[in-house]
Amino acid sequence: MARSLEARGRTPAQARLRRRFLKFVPVGAGERVLEVGCGTGVVVRDLAALVGPRGGVVGIDASRRLLDRARALCRETARRTPIALRVADAAGLPFAANRFDAALAITVILHVAEPLRVVREMARVTRPGGRVGVQDQDFGVVAVTHPDRALTEGIMRGVAERVYEEPHSGRRLPGLLRAAGLVDVRLLTDVYQDTTLEPWTKTFLERRAERAVRFGIADVSTAKRWLDGFTEVVAADAFVLTLNYYGAVGTKPA
Ligand SMILES: C[S@@+](CC[C@H](N)C(=O)[O-])C[C@H]1O[C@@H](n2cnc3c(N)ncnc32)[C@H](O)[C@@H]1O
Repeated sequence: MARSLEARGRTPAQARLRRRFLKFVPVGAGERVLEVGCGTGVVVRDLAALVGPRGGVVGIDASRRLLDRARALCRETARRTPIALRVADAAGLPFAANRFDAALAITVILHVAEPLRVVREMARVTRPGGRVGVQDQDFGVVAVTHPDRALTEGIMRGVAERVYEEPHSGRRLPGLLRAAGLVDVRLLTDVYQDTTLEPWTKTFLERRAERAVRFGIADVSTAKRWLDGFTEVVAADAFVLTLNYYGAVGTKPA
């Protein structure tokens, strides 16, 4: 998991859409920002560069192991910008009300059982006039070239339904923010596009194949045939994978 998050973080098309979202929020110099579900700290490091030495970034995650990795990976950045990382559940944030200028969750809401509870918590710890921002993929909108379309759709949909609490989370984010009482909600739709089978995309498809076997969606030889199908498409210089990302931002009313 830690390796995959860092590989995604390094992938140029992923870094571009993450940074576009942070600009859309926006996050400014001197601000105090919370990232909920920070994982290995990919976004924490981006945020530290934006808030600078007079601001501060707090990251929380439910996984102690991922946070240990985040502490190591953020050590250098923390020399320039205050960074605090702590274990916590997004559904019960260990912070007083109105403490942050912005609270963000990047590719987290699709994993949580009670998204409204999490967004309400994010709103509670944000100051009036501050921003709550959430960005998620939407696994109902994955397009990928493969010779066997039915098999591809079966694997992509079947795995997503079992792995995420809400595979269509992306399209639901603006409504979620409004339901949590946020106002002036804006939406940024962005697309991850890969035409060369980047290392992160390859790992993503391999994990889909492994999980398809584990969940009984495909047997081992079908999963292997499925992965080999991508190799053929890439060899023909015809590979395309796109995945939609939806970023929604709302303001906490005064
Ligand atoms: C896909 S990762 C995203 C990490 C990071 N935001 C990034 O974009 O690189 C989702 C993260 O959310 C965390 N998470 C999931 N449910 C959580 C919860 N209820 N409370 C806190 N963290 C949670 C996971 O441990 C994981 O690190």
